[in-house]
Amino acid sequence: MNTKELQDALQTLSYPGLNRTLGELKLISEAKVTNGSANIELLTVSDESYLTVKSAIEAALADQFSELHITKKGTVKKDINYGNSAAPNNRAPYAANVIAVTSGKGGVGKSTVSVNLAIALAQKGYKVGILDADVYGPNVPRLTNTDLEKIRWNDDNKIVPSENYGIKIMSVALTTPTSDTPLVWRSSVAVSALIQFLEDVAWGELDFMVIDMPPGTGDIQLTMAQELPLTAGVIVTTPQLVASDDVSRAIRMFQDIHVPIAGLVENMSYFIAPDTGTRYDIFGSGGGERLSQRYNVPLLGQIPLNMEIREGSDNGEPPIALGSESLKEYYRSIVDRMLESSRFRL
Ligand SMILES: Nc1ncnc2c1ncn2[C@@H]1O[C@H](COP(=O)(O)OP(=O)(O)O)[C@@H](O)[C@H]1O
Ligand SMILES: [Mg+2]
Repeated sequence: MNTKELQDALQTLSYPGLNRTLGELKLISEAKVTNGSANIELLTVSDESYLTVKSAIEAALADQFSELHITKKGTVKKDINYGNSAAPNNRAPYAANVIAVTSGKGGVGKSTVSVNLAIALAQKGYKVGILDADVYGPNVPRLTNTDLEKIRWNDDNKIVPSENYGIKIMSVALTTPTSDTPLVWRSSVAVSALIQFLEDVAWGELDFMVIDMPPGTGDIQLTMAQELPLTAGVIVTTPQLVASDDVSRAIRMFQDIHVPIAGLVENMSYFIAPDTGTRYDIFGSGGGERLSQRYNVPLLGQIPLNMEIREGSDNGEPPIALGSESLKEYYRSIVDRMLESSRFRL
């Protein structure tokens, strides 16, 4: 094989588990053949996807060369490559709007915010589905009290989503024997499962599909951006993370993949002592505001650290549905601001 033949072979090689070639995903930075040995440099976004692509190439081409060197281009921030997310596929034509909820890190309340926003939208009369794309920490079923449900198919061989609090719900947790069964999937398998959840679930027509994304900026985010026209991104953070690189990366990812950012939600912002009513800015204040100015993204709202939110969420009783009026108001006002800040098809 000469250089040209190698480049052609790489361009047409499929990404494992995806219906896309390495060429379409623009994952090859350089490929050269010298004296029978090949040097390939990849432009993958994460170590995981680097290893996936590397083994796919080795399996396909190792016997063609005396030596096959595959390296990863240094992850200079500029080089993060999101493929052709500027012109994504549409695996969910039934959804008028798709909102991706992300965070730089786990544990900041991303799922809690996703679930309460989805239900708040349904309370406004919209048809809403929530896809739990956090395959390694799927907790949407627990938050919506659907964690004991088992997967079912309808007569058209489509998966029937769970339903509660007026929203349709799909999660990998529905496919595992118990909701806390750990998933040991390669990211390519997780990606295929999510695509199946978009295509093979009986969602019906939706005004909004809310996606609870995994934290960070990896393969799953990349795929969702390529397979769906995301209408808006919502970023959840906490005051102590506001100034961190993780949040900046999450914001930059949306900007890089041309997804309009509806705004930022600062969760666990402050604490109001239930006995005295005194407000404590445990992690300082004003961080969300500063971040919003720095990146020119709206601050949709601040949600306090609140015992009722914690208890309700962990018991599958979302505050927006079953909490006190003051808690409901936090989520309602965030939804109102979000609907104002982005262009939704309604
Ligand atoms: N505003 C809040 N006040 C108190 N507890 C919260 C709040 N938001 C989330 N939690 C709790 O924090 C934990 C992590 O929230 P979760 O939504 O699962 O985070 P993530 O999806 O980002 O990992 C859960 O136990 C949840 O009940
Ligand atoms: Mg979560």
